[in-house]
Amino acid sequence: MSNTPDLQPARDLPEQLSVTWAQLRLAVADAKHEWHLPVVSTIGLDGSPEARTVVLRAADEANRELVFNTDRRSLKPREIERSSRIAWTFYERGHRVQLRMSGSATIHADDAIADEAWSRTSLSSRRCYLAPHAPSSILEAWDPNLPQDLLASIPDQTASEGGRSNFMVVRTRIDRLDRLELHHDGHLRGRWRWAGEEVVETSWLAP
Ligand SMILES: Cc1cc2nc3c(=O)[nH]c(=O)nc-3n(C[C@H](O)[C@H](O)[C@H](O)COP(=O)(O)O)c2cc1C
Repeated sequence: MSNTPDLQPARDLPEQLSVTWAQLRLAVADAKHEWHLPVVSTIGLDGSPEARTVVLRAADEANRELVFNTDRRSLKPREIERSSRIAWTFYERGHRVQLRMSGSATIHADDAIADEAWSRTSLSSRRCYLAPHAPSSILEAWDPNLPQDLLASIPDQTASEGGRSNFMVVRTRIDRLDRLELHHDGHLRGRWRWAGEEVVETSWLAP
């Protein structure tokens, strides 16, 4: 179990919301927190849902924003350009809390947001962006998709810069949040929706 505080269930909606963002902030920094590895779903180019695990890189309550990094050669930028709706799914076993959050995504490849995020990436993360083949490209045979000289090592600072051109940040401005917290004596489920800055729904839902 990660270092999540042992919270009593918050039985009012404002507290549920603030506890949620506080936990998301912890999960960004704590690789052992189960919310560190959410599932992000997009609408695929053929209209089918596409869901995959990512690393949660930022959770900003004031701007209602969740962030992940990705390879710009993947299909994700094209999927997001076609349909900006993105859904995030989290589950944390310690307190048995599921989050379903969704909103509108923006992609950042060549701007200051991407530069700043790139400056904070570790050398081991940068190695992924040096992959010779675009993610999801079909291979004639198994290939680790890493430069030969980096199979068992991480790049140095200078070599790692070669990955910058493949790096991209995806930000989601959250406008829906559904939180389900399981308890033997009664589950708690709340939903929040926003339109711009305005809160348009704050409700308990039947779990
Ligand atoms: C633990 C874990 C963490 C991952 N983190 C990321 C990530 O932060 N960004 C990313 O693009 N892919 C990440 N991946 C890989 C994706 O799950 C996925 O396989 C890849 O992005 C290709 O997805 P796509 O075909 O939808 O583009 C991660 C996979 C695992 C297993």
